[in-house]
Amino acid sequence: MKKKKWLPMLSLMFVFALFLTACGSSSSQESSGEAETEEKEEKKTLRVVTDAAYAPMEYQDKGEVVGFDIDFVKAVAKEAGYEVKVDHVGWDPIFVEIEGERADLAVSSITINDERKQSYDFSVPYFQSTNKILTPEGSDIKSAEDLKGKKVAVQNGTTGQAAMDALLGKNHKDIKKFEDNNLAIMEMESGGAAAVVADNVVVEEYAKNNPDKKLTVIEDADFDSEFYGLLFPKGSDLPEEFNKAINSILDDGTYTEIYKKWFGTEPNIDVLKEQQ
Ligand code: ARG
Repeated sequence: MKKKKWLPMLSLMFVFALFLTACGSSSSQESSGEAETEEKEEKKTLRVVTDAAYAPMEYQDKGEVVGFDIDFVKAVAKEAGYEVKVDHVGWDPIFVEIEGERADLAVSSITINDERKQSYDFSVPYFQSTNKILTPEGSDIKSAEDLKGKKVAVQNGTTGQAAMDALLGKNHKDIKKFEDNNLAIMEMESGGAAAVVADNVVVEEYAKNNPDKKLTVIEDADFDSEFYGLLFPKGSDLPEEFNKAINSILDDGTYTEIYKKWFGTEPNIDVLKEQQ
């Protein structure tokens, strides 16, 4: 009886050994142990481009690119098994780099919309946003309608510009367009514009961090709800892997941790999931 019990066990071990040998030879000449460490070392590094002039989402601090988006993209890439190298290239160049496939993806508070979807691929939404108006305290601007007849500074090629095109007319002389959002804010501060229209978190953060400048932020129900996505070259294989990774970090608390670090409040994950 005892002997018979060993027999199936031994044959199982034999089959298992055969299986291991087969795996080893199909992957490489190296032993499987070595191959594993090599794989880890060779984690592919993806080039991520951004416009780091949009605090607290992406900005430069002592020569380093930091912000919510940067922590987010690093966490997602890690989850998907990649390293990332983040390059500040500026807003318009983001689209040129991605279109030319010189970068693997972009993170830059980029709103997902139909126009952009024609030329690029997006991840699932990872952040909800809307445009708001930044204006000096005591200004007579109380709503978007009040911007009519006033000079408004926006970042060129953003949904803030699109909102002003829709309100005042495309290429209207009162829309002052700037290469980055900080320049738009400087224009308002030097008296060249009555207001800036840009993403809520960015104008709110700016007003809060500069109390001496006495600014106020106005919301208007006419401005759409928007969602940010990671931007990829059209036809890239990455969105599928990254979407899985985004969902993992939405579910396992990593996203919440990053969100709380930057905003001090709980994110609304349901609203993001509803968009998928
Ligand atoms: N969400 C807006 C858009 O997609 C503005 C984004 C601007 N981002 C930046 N890093 N400057 O058009």
